[in-house]
Amino acid sequence: MDAIAPQDAPILIVDDDAIIRSLMRASLESDGLGVIEAASGEEARAICASSVPSLLIADVVMPGIDGFELCRLLRARPETAFMPILMATGLDDVSSIMRAYEAGATDFIVKPINWLLLNHRVRYILRAGRAFDELRQNQDRLIAAKDAAVAASRAKSEFLANMSHELRTPLNAIIGFSSIMRDAMFGPLDPKYAEFSALIADSGNHLLAIINSILDIAKAESNQLLLKEETVDLARIAGFSMSLVGDMAKKAEIDCRASIAPNLPPFFADSPKLSQILINLLSNAVKFTPPGGRVRLTIERHGDGDLAFRIEDSGIGMSADKLPLALSPFGQIDSGLARKYEGIGLGLPLTKRLIELHDGTMTIDSEAGKGTVVTARFPAARFRPVDAASSLVRRIAG
Ligand SMILES: Nc1ncnc2c1ncn2[C@@H]1O[C@H](COP(=O)(O)OP(=O)(O)O)[C@@H](O)[C@H]1O
Ligand SMILES: [Mg+2]
Repeated sequence: MDAIAPQDAPILIVDDDAIIRSLMRASLESDGLGVIEAASGEEARAICASSVPSLLIADVVMPGIDGFELCRLLRARPETAFMPILMATGLDDVSSIMRAYEAGATDFIVKPINWLLLNHRVRYILRAGRAFDELRQNQDRLIAAKDAAVAASRAKSEFLANMSHELRTPLNAIIGFSSIMRDAMFGPLDPKYAEFSALIADSGNHLLAIINSILDIAKAESNQLLLKEETVDLARIAGFSMSLVGDMAKKAEIDCRASIAPNLPPFFADSPKLSQILINLLSNAVKFTPPGGRVRLTIERHGDGDLAFRIEDSGIGMSADKLPLALSPFGQIDSGLARKYEGIGLGLPLTKRLIELHDGTMTIDSEAGKGTVVTARFPAARFRPVDAASSLVRRIAG
């Protein structure tokens, strides 16, 4: 037999027939259940208003508020909206049974009452009622936790966006004036001062790049990063991106080359963002490849017409279990040695978002010690001359 928790509220019996009430009470009490009685619908309603019973067993036909009406009134109040209600009806009275369910009854028992069956039914309903209560509470908790997480994430993104903006303003002066001094625009400067000015300008530019990535990732996370799409020349974008990482590759003694499929048709995309994708992936490839290594950029169309950027390196690679870290904002893999690589861990998550904004996917194939292949794949549908009007339609439909 189920143990009924002692803290369980009592069962309320409402019936205008005192004999039925006392028989029911005796039957339930013999099972260790607590019972209170009401002689009318009005009385039952008043009791429920002050404390919610674990179960209500209600007679249907009563003077004043009858069982159906009582059921409806209780269901309308939040405190008793989910309280189990057992209606006592005649079995042959199908329409009463239906009305009982419609009024919100949990179940019904047949009159004249089979006492043994009543106790079983009551225990079952109490158990089910507790299970439902727990489910409802868990659901409420989950919804509250999700709402809190969403609000916190939004607050964080807004904070980052505002902060980044505020930080950029004074940097304009720092970078601007230190560059003027470095370039000796107003006359010669002691060489030491010129060197320091160059350092200030470089550090300022570095800080600006970091702040810009933070701003971008904050925008991406709050879905404020939008594409300015146009028809772009992929070969030109690839050439530009390669030239930007070229210096870095030469200094690091890395053989960095691109192979771009000839005659690629015009591609519809956000040109600066495509460059950013390539620069981020290429600079990672160069950065995480030791001297003497190799970096290859391949741009080609797959059999199904999709466009693929493939960035391959012979560098330090990543083990599969570290990939989620590499993809998370500010996530960087500790290579065991003291950190000798520059960066703050925003490149990959941002690149992934930029690719996805273009309806593409990013995959990383990597092996520790062997190297890495990152592939960005974009749908073939982007190979089409799209005019401004249909781009607007796309945007609205999207
Ligand atoms: N091509 C690569 N080879 C090896 N490790 C990589 C490569 N690209 C990224 N990673 C790892 O993923 C981390 C996150 O990359 P990223 O988001 O671009 O940040 P960052 O370059 O600023 O460190 C890097 O710190 C590095 O540990
Ligand atoms: Mg990077």
